[in-house]
Amino acid sequence: MSVHMPVAFGVVGLGGFGASVRGALQQLQAKPSPLVKLVAACDPAQELHAETIATLRADGVTVVDELKKLLALPIQALWLPVPIHLHRPFAEQALAAGKWVISEKPASGTIQDIDAMIAARDRYHGKVAIAFQDIHERSTPKIKQRILDGALGRITYVSVSQCSPRPKSYYDRNNWGGRLRIGETWILDSPCTNAMAHSINLALFLAGAEMNRSAKLVSVDAELYRSRDIPSADTTCIRVQLEGGSKALILMTHACATNTGPFVVLRGEKGELHMSREAAEFRYRDGSTETIARAIETARTAEVAIERWTGRNTSVPLAELEVAREQTLSVNGAFDATPIRTISKEFIKIRDEAKDPQPYVPDIESVFEECVRRGVLPNESGLAPWSSPAGSLSLQDYRTFAGRHCG
Ligand SMILES: NC(=O)c1ccc[n+]([C@@H]2O[C@H](COP(=O)([O-])OP(=O)(O)OC[C@H]3O[C@@H](n4cnc5c(N)ncnc54)[C@H](O)[C@@H]3O)[C@@H](O)[C@H]2O)c1
Repeated sequence: MSVHMPVAFGVVGLGGFGASVRGALQQLQAKPSPLVKLVAACDPAQELHAETIATLRADGVTVVDELKKLLALPIQALWLPVPIHLHRPFAEQALAAGKWVISEKPASGTIQDIDAMIAARDRYHGKVAIAFQDIHERSTPKIKQRILDGALGRITYVSVSQCSPRPKSYYDRNNWGGRLRIGETWILDSPCTNAMAHSINLALFLAGAEMNRSAKLVSVDAELYRSRDIPSADTTCIRVQLEGGSKALILMTHACATNTGPFVVLRGEKGELHMSREAAEFRYRDGSTETIARAIETARTAEVAIERWTGRNTSVPLAELEVAREQTLSVNGAFDATPIRTISKEFIKIRDEAKDPQPYVPDIESVFEECVRRGVLPNESGLAPWSSPAGSLSLQDYRTFAGRHCG
């Protein structure tokens, strides 16, 4: 198929993260010999975004109010910064119309929805990438190659942890924050699904046995909690056994007083890799270290996707649906392994109660730190009186999120 360069893009969703997506495409199109051009956008909330729409139109961008109309325009690719429950149906419609798709993360709420997206992609011989920008960061292939070359030896333990306070207004910002489902579609919105999904996906990707593959999950133990009145969890504590014998501990909460992390650490027989947004630091057993600078950019997803899809650079890793599926599998496994437990009020304090209440569990940050050190879940640590024993689930032959604990 011959593709006209720069690739004509449409963006679906103007609010929220849509502003960053538009900015990313405009940044790329300002480069010499640009790979992309923003030509169209769509959002049903036309009045709400009237100012943005006027600016876009003045720049020659066609703006419409529904996906069907966008798909009829002469565009080659779509970026979907839309609510999670729309990722699958919008990707399917775009693929059926012959468009390439960048969907926001997570790929979907459930692995069955991702499998349907994979089937649609293959049926229409299409292209789909998920906007997990850590995977598209320029140094990621070098870091992953170091690991594949054995710099850390066999990986034995992976940890991902983050505490990131969120007030009530975070959950009120749209109609899906903190929800388990929208209509019949599971979204399982929670720290591990949404705000912190990038770190899980990066850790599983780096632990994967091939350059463009994430580590496969074998089983899951999970403790899920809510500290506030939401259907889903705001504290997600997950341990997954990985193919090859290592384990990954994933601890994330919005019920905290301070920001810590994200910390992503891979421990191997010959050393450790500590990832931050700014750098990857290899700390070897012999005392030597190596630091590789990182810079996370939203635009890189489009750049890498177009390089791959037009054959300009086929070796650069891309967060395809199969890569993103393992992150969603960790979430689905956790929510099918255990009910979400409401933390008893005696263990919760509330900041800014009059204006924008933000519940937190005092010292959860240090509990997480100790759990990461020991490779245990909060209840196993003996340090978390607010916790309950984990539920466990085998992920061998696990193909469908059943929602068995989600009412
Ligand atoms: N990659 C990242 O770092 C990152 C950061 C933040 C959010 N996200 C992802 O971006 C997506 C959107 O998140 P958000 O917080 O901006 O959500 P949001 O609900 O605030 O905004 C989504 C936009 O989609 C529009 N929309 C809703 N229904 C639509 C429809 N039928 N057709 C077209 N547009 C429609 C809304 O009007 C709104 O403008 C989510 O998947 C989220 O996980 C990614």
